[in-house]
Amino acid sequence: MIRKHLLFVVMLLCLPPTVLAQPITNMLVVHADAAKDTISRFIYGQFAEHLGRCIYGGIWVGEDSPIPNTRGIRNDVVAALKKLNVAAIRWPGGCFADEYHWRDGIGPRADRPKLVNTNWGGVTEDNSFGTHEFMDLCEQLGCEPVICGNIGSGTVKEMADWVQYLTSDGDNPMTELRKKNGREKPWKVKFWCVGNEVWGCGGMMTAEFYANELGRYSWFLKNYGGNTLYKISSGGLQEDYGWTDTIMKKWKSADGWLQGFLGGYSLHYYTVPDWNKKGSATEFTEKDWFATLKATLKMEELVTRHSAVMDTYDPEKRIGLIVDEWGNWFDVEPGTNPGFLYQQNTLRDALVAAVNLNIFHEHCDRVKMTNIAQMVNVLQSMVLTKDNAIVLTPTYYVFKMYSVHQGATLLPMEVRSESYTNGTDAIPVLSASASKDKAGKIHISIANLHAAKAQDLKCELKGTAGSKVSGEIITAATMNAWNDFGRPEGVNVQPFKGAQLKDGMLTLSLPPRSVVTLEVN
Ligand code: AHR
Repeated sequence: MIRKHLLFVVMLLCLPPTVLAQPITNMLVVHADAAKDTISRFIYGQFAEHLGRCIYGGIWVGEDSPIPNTRGIRNDVVAALKKLNVAAIRWPGGCFADEYHWRDGIGPRADRPKLVNTNWGGVTEDNSFGTHEFMDLCEQLGCEPVICGNIGSGTVKEMADWVQYLTSDGDNPMTELRKKNGREKPWKVKFWCVGNEVWGCGGMMTAEFYANELGRYSWFLKNYGGNTLYKISSGGLQEDYGWTDTIMKKWKSADGWLQGFLGGYSLHYYTVPDWNKKGSATEFTEKDWFATLKATLKMEELVTRHSAVMDTYDPEKRIGLIVDEWGNWFDVEPGTNPGFLYQQNTLRDALVAAVNLNIFHEHCDRVKMTNIAQMVNVLQSMVLTKDNAIVLTPTYYVFKMYSVHQGATLLPMEVRSESYTNGTDAIPVLSASASKDKAGKIHISIANLHAAKAQDLKCELKGTAGSKVSGEIITAATMNAWNDFGRPEGVNVQPFKGAQLKDGMLTLSLPPRSVVTLEVN
């Protein structure tokens, strides 16, 4: 967004002085005739870790639970997620992945060994949700699994066996074991993370050490039958561009002889203005609102700069940038386990989701998958559960409204945005992206980041005049509105009738703190 903003500033400088004297107004130009890149449907991926009540309680309740379930998996959560067309789920961590030993999570549940979840609250993990249960969840949702292997405390053999167990149909011990555990046919597994945050909870490695480990592990993770792995390298800590350079150099040196060594490179970035004072998810001021949105816009810089390093080795963009952890991280809800990372979700989260999805769309030539953290009951969730009740969050509704962009073609767009100022700080008040779907419908999503001021804007459609426009909106009377148990969901998708279309020009007024998606056909 900042990149597009700058482009417009340069364009403004080229304008005659009479035009410059006019006040800056919000203006978008959508190039409907210049579509090139596809917005990967995997940008709409989720992350589900063995953390707090994400898996246990949020997804898995067990077959004997009074909560309606299918083979132990909650029906209400699956039904809600199905409406989002969840493309992929990353599992079992996170930090948990590097202390997870997959063989503990197969076979009769009563016989599965327990372990202590040292990263998240020190609780006992009974391994009742393991490989078969996760693959069942993916099948129920019709989404791709993204398995994160244990490089920190595991072995090459352990990870290689897991791949064989999941994907091979040959005559080998792992296939035999899988069949003994009730699964005759192999599954298809494409996405495979070779460790998680290996600079930290994944083993405190250096980039150079990990680059070698990555090569060693990748070599032994084989493709069986028709299954081809897309291996994802751990990235460094946020703006560690040197780490990206080291891994990409390693990829380049192996390219040509070690085909398929790497498919993607991971980036994690959480929206936290101040790690020492994360603040409440629901009780905040406009200053906090602004600080959160400013912090989330850093995603643009991170994606741009990591992509630039990747470009130097891979100008053809064969390696995908995989943002496999992102989202808001606030203080846990009062009275809940600090290790469980349970937070509520307000209209502020909706704006953060929209801004990030717009950034990912904009960079879809490089960004091939993202996984918001996390799917249920942890950090910036889609769904919250309490016993047998569920609540769909404002973030859920953004994903629902934005699902029209999944697999669509990105339409290049210029954004001239007024500034949203707070004290001496300023950010662009608008965040936007546009795409054209297979039926030829154009969808334009625009967020008004201002907590209190409506934004008038025009949107010029180049290459098409369009004949009619309709729209949807997510907003609320207060910036901290949230959906809670036992009351109707106040923050959801509503029809938006405030856009007019005439001669290829859209005119609209965006209410404060709102996200709108327009459909033009
Ligand atoms: O999502 C919570 C944690 O954040 C993950 O386990 C870890 O990878 C990251 O630091």
